[in-house]
Amino acid sequence: PVGTSLTDDGALVLGGADVREIAQVHGTPCFVLDELTFRRRARMFVGAFEQAFGAIGSGVDVYYAGKSFLSVAVARWAREEGLRVDTCTGGELAVALRADVPGAEIGLHGNNKSDDEIARAIEARVGRIVLDSPAEIERVARLAAIAGRDETDPVPVMVRVTTGIHAGGHEFISTAHEDQKFGVPLAGGAALATLEAVLAHPALELLGAHSHIGSQIQDAAAFEAAARAMLGLRADLARSSGVLVPELDLGGGYGIAYTPEDVPIDVDGVARALAATVRDACAELGTSVPRISIEPGRSIVGPAGVTLYSVGVVKAVTVGGASDDETAVRTYVSVDGGMSDNIRPALYGARYLGRLANRPGDDASLRARVVGKHCESGDIVLPDVELPTDVTPGDLIAVPATGAYGRSMASNYNHVLRPPVIGVKDGELRVLVRRETEDDLLALDLG
Ligand code: LLP
Repeated sequence: PVGTSLTDDGALVLGGADVREIAQVHGTPCFVLDELTFRRRARMFVGAFEQAFGAIGSGVDVYYAGKSFLSVAVARWAREEGLRVDTCTGGELAVALRADVPGAEIGLHGNNKSDDEIARAIEARVGRIVLDSPAEIERVARLAAIAGRDETDPVPVMVRVTTGIHAGGHEFISTAHEDQKFGVPLAGGAALATLEAVLAHPALELLGAHSHIGSQIQDAAAFEAAARAMLGLRADLARSSGVLVPELDLGGGYGIAYTPEDVPIDVDGVARALAATVRDACAELGTSVPRISIEPGRSIVGPAGVTLYSVGVVKAVTVGGASDDETAVRTYVSVDGGMSDNIRPALYGARYLGRLANRPGDDASLRARVVGKHCESGDIVLPDVELPTDVTPGDLIAVPATGAYGRSMASNYNHVLRPPVIGVKDGELRVLVRRETEDDLLALDLG
């Protein structure tokens, strides 16, 4: 996905830039983000969904899910490609606003929004606040009133609904089954009652219902099942209240390829299948087709990012072989980052590919485990990878598909400094987010 090639002497080139130059100028570890890949993938979502839903007479809004990775530059790229920005905290909202994304093109999520976050979203006139529980209705209505909003100028809201449809990778990232913290269950009428309760508040404008069924989803049928369930809910609300809400949000969660075993979602195919489902379900239910929004994050920024690490200590460890009388060696290749820049292997058992990036290496291959520099044995970047046998300190290792949930979930564990994000485009480098410094960390420590 990232525009990659090799130099004549076998070094990796990302977005036109030689990784050796990126590492020399900006140091390692660093995240490299290919602007054109990000833009192309953002456009792909807008194009596929606009075409598919335009064909059934419906409009579409694509929100870029900022939790996957948000910076001022990235928010601008998203906007320039016709996307809106989905935020889930005051911090993400602040970045979107700093990027001059108009409030009307921002959404705010969160299962435990603070009064301050809600008030700032209202003040910024965000396009919608997604209510996550019945308890939020009164709070948002009260804060809307304080801000002087009433039925002549209501605050647009949606209600997040859990459909009971399980999808996605690890349990921690599948979000629509019943026993978890997000949203209001469709089962038992809770979602319908919550939607009705919103209608009773004149200072709130009910745009519709919202469903996000999980992340890293590789089975497109789950989206269709969720869409059907949500359209049924919309029709139920129309019957019970006389109000046919204009919109439906079908969330994010489109899976990407980290390794050859993964099946990335075919965005065009899903868009067409979803549009057909929406058209057919609305025809059966006797309702008009709603405006649809989606919230992809990982599938836009994930493939646009590559992490570069430098190799430090290389250590061969005898680990035992397939049978008792056989011994096998695993080579531990330590790099200068690890679980502080990519927690996903430790948290979800996530797998990535990786390769020597600064030169071709010899032809023989080594059974290697790439590990980080943290004081924890679970600090593993690549549990099982083939590297050339001559891998040596100072070499560069590139790990692709790390644009999503890498930098955005980075930590300072062991007082490690969070890496920079370097934008690449046509061979030009641009620091999007600078490397943290020890002064940054010490500035927080008041002694
Ligand atoms: N919309 C809502 C309401 C969400 O909760 C999420 C993700 C998204 C959109 C974007 O999902 P995406 O298209 O990026 O899959 N840290 C985990 C992923 C957590 C996702 C949480 N919600 C990981 O590294 O896999």
